[in-house]
Amino acid sequence: MMNGALDFHNIHKPPKGEEESDSRFGSLCLGIVSALLTASIIIIIRMSGVLYRQEVNLSEMKMKMEILENRAEILLRDRNDLNWMLGVILTFDLFPVRDFCRENTGCQPCRRGWTLFQHRCYLFHEDGWFTWQEARQLCQDRHADLVVIDNLEEPEFISNRTDFYFDKYHGYWLGLNQTGSSWVWVDGRVDTLGFWMQKPFSFPGKNALLVPNRNPTTSWAKADSEFKNRFICEGKALTRS
Ligand SMILES: *[C@@H]1O[C@H](CO)[C@@H](O)[C@H](O)[C@H]1NC(C)=O
Ligand SMILES: *[C@@H]1O[C@H](CO)[C@@H](O)[C@H](O)[C@H]1NC(C)=O
Ligand SMILES: *[C@@H]1O[C@H](CO)[C@@H](O)[C@H](O)[C@H]1NC(C)=O
Repeated sequence: MMNGALDFHNIHKPPKGEEESDSRFGSLCLGIVSALLTASIIIIIRMSGVLYRQEVNLSEMKMKMEILENRAEILLRDRNDLNWMLGVILTFDLFPVRDFCRENTGCQPCRRGWTLFQHRCYLFHEDGWFTWQEARQLCQDRHADLVVIDNLEEPEFISNRTDFYFDKYHGYWLGLNQTGSSWVWVDGRVDTLGFWMQKPFSFPGKNALLVPNRNPTTSWAKADSEFKNRFICEGKALTRS
């Protein structure tokens, strides 16, 4: 039994020469493995370096893209503003540059003497009194028209800028007159606001007058077009911002 066990041991024990070459082979393997390992570590370190740089590059590029997108947006807005300005300029035969623009301050949305409100320019004409047709012509000569009231803030703005003068029958012509049974604004739209005075004057006509110092929503009077009054012109603003 003892011998048998010993034999059994001996069978699995390699001869002395083989043992030596085996350990050399082993250390060679170990060397190769550790070299590979080192190489892998170096590669991993390099790769992570590259990866890190790429990530940095990516975030830098994203930042640059954002900046470019912002610039593109600004340019688009500028282009639209310039197109708007060109559109307004092209409505004139002779554009009154000096009324809108000065060398040191640039161009204003409205001419001197006109007031900006919600991207529109208004002229409260208080020099002299005119018939409705004369007033309209004077507005049109300035590439505008008699005022059209088309929102709920405009009456308050106009009411703030107009004053009582001469007597209670006088006011400011609006771009509104009667055509058939409807009241039509000079831009062709039928009036839906109807801000008429509650107690109308006893001599009505077919043109609409704004009577100052009244509640803005009950301040219009019907008047004859030959009656002479102050008036309000409304035109496009040269710049939107
Ligand atoms: C990062 O970007 C630069 C140019 O800005 C380029 O030269 C470099 O190769 C990039 N690096 C990586 C890792 O992509
Ligand atoms: C009109 O004037 C009043 C009082 O001064 C002011 O509170 C209001 O904002 C003005 N409204 C407009 C549209 O100008
Ligand atoms: C009424 O207004 C229109 C423009 O909307 C104009 O052509 C017409 O001459 C005006 N009529 C009177 C009587 O003012």
